[in-house]
Amino acid sequence: MERQKKLDYNIMLIGFMGVGKSTISARLQELLPVETVEMDALIAQKAGMTIAEIFDRYGEEHFRDMETEMIKELGNQKNLLVSCGGGAVLRDENVRLMKEGGTIVLLTASPETIYERVKDSTERPILNADMSVSHIGELMASRRDKYERAADLVISTDGKNVDEICAEVIKKLPGTAE
Ligand code: S3P
Repeated sequence: MERQKKLDYNIMLIGFMGVGKSTISARLQELLPVETVEMDALIAQKAGMTIAEIFDRYGEEHFRDMETEMIKELGNQKNLLVSCGGGAVLRDENVRLMKEGGTIVLLTASPETIYERVKDSTERPILNADMSVSHIGELMASRRDKYERAADLVISTDGKNVDEICAEVIKKLPGTAE
């Protein structure tokens, strides 16, 4: 696919932990003229510690404050493809900020698919205490409304490969399809 002109907005990739935001964003970077950024990596870099350490030392609220700050900073730029942490849309203020200069793309997957992708990871404080399909399913259900209300586009990833998912994103995004 030809690399088109730069986007005059940011693409905000959202969705539950392990849905594949980082993988999809890495592939999309090869297909679109965007600059990819990982919100969690930027937060960790700024704090000088891992996300798990931030939760451990300062608690979830502090991490959420850092997320809000980062969304504000990224909102001053354009043509970014931002892979957001799974909880970035939990605050309505974040969603409002994300919508100001961005299009929000929601990736979804079943709790079983998510479990298979995250079960060996110890880096997600929200899941560390109870890594199970049922906990993932409950948490997903409690967040579903927030995700769906925030999303401009929804892409289901179950049973699709990375290229199929990216093709769908590109087709649905404003100004990217050929
Ligand atoms: C979180 C998701 C994580 C990270 C933090 C909290 C969440 O990001 O921001 O552990 O509350 O869903 P990923 O979705 O990239 O795992």
